[in-house]
Amino acid sequence: MAIHRNQNGDIDMTFKDDVDKGLSAPFKYLLSRYFYDACGDKLFQDIMHMPEYYLTDAEHEIFSEQGKHILKAVQHDGTGFDLVEFGAGDGLKTRILIKRMVEEKADFRYLPIDISGDVLQALKFELSLEFPDLEVIPEHAEYFTALHNISKRSGRTKLVLFLGSSIGNFAEDRTVSFLNVLNEKLNSGDRVMIGFDLKKDPEVILRAYNDEAGITASFNMNVLRRINRELGGNFDLDKFKHFPTYNPESGFARSYLVSTDAQEISIEALGKSFAFAKGECIHTEISRKYSIPQIEKLLTDTGFTVQEHFLDKRGYYVDTLAEKKPQ
Ligand code: AVJ
Repeated sequence: MAIHRNQNGDIDMTFKDDVDKGLSAPFKYLLSRYFYDACGDKLFQDIMHMPEYYLTDAEHEIFSEQGKHILKAVQHDGTGFDLVEFGAGDGLKTRILIKRMVEEKADFRYLPIDISGDVLQALKFELSLEFPDLEVIPEHAEYFTALHNISKRSGRTKLVLFLGSSIGNFAEDRTVSFLNVLNEKLNSGDRVMIGFDLKKDPEVILRAYNDEAGITASFNMNVLRRINRELGGNFDLDKFKHFPTYNPESGFARSYLVSTDAQEISIEALGKSFAFAKGECIHTEISRKYSIPQIEKLLTDTGFTVQEHFLDKRGYYVDTLAEKKPQ
């Protein structure tokens, strides 16, 4: 089988090493950031349009119905600032905010960051059509890498957006360290707006990750497709089953791929094979859900002061605005 290369013609070393590490671990795992290639981006777009996936609708409602109020809350003293966005994606909800800011003649630049280069290109192009005068400076990077570049890229006052419940994908210690490092890189008075999915009826949550049409299953499997294509793997997708779980106590939604047979998977680029027992699983994703008190504790512990919670009507989801505490 031919091994496909990335845009530079190289095998992506990080991907290769991460796959090796994850499949060699006593409890196998693969990192969810590798869902997002061109095919995964498309599947995630489909997820956002599913009736079961309430997160996108909730955040969209918050931005469109409370946009004026949000704008007022984030408004600066008229001096120039940078709107930095982690996980910008297609920028659909952000566009509502950008539009309002442009209308108010705010002096700002937009710095979107995403792990998908394809999505960023499309976003930059579309924004150039809609807002020809807006300066857009995209960065294609993993979140922690981008975090380290943030002060190099922008010396201005910042409003940092981290929407879409992307923060829910981090393991617990990474959430705290991400916010701690972010806080360190900001100046007093800089602000963050973070989207958190809230704890709610566990069945509503589980359905969002286990849709009838099987789109989420296919999204989850995409990491296997990618291993096959880019690293010469021979995963048979029919021999794995998507298994989402939600623990209402911890608030952790976790997705797994369960091997339906005893099988041996070989990966050419690694020059080795991995044995799967029947019923053995690969952990592929965490999508954490929070309560408001947990959000307040998390932000306070990492050096922020919570300013306002913007919730949707059903109380499913919150965009929380917080400011770096003065030192
Ligand atoms: C884009 C990370 C917020 O965890 O809800 C959707 C990704 N995974 N369905 C989420 C996802 C399965 C999504 N985030």
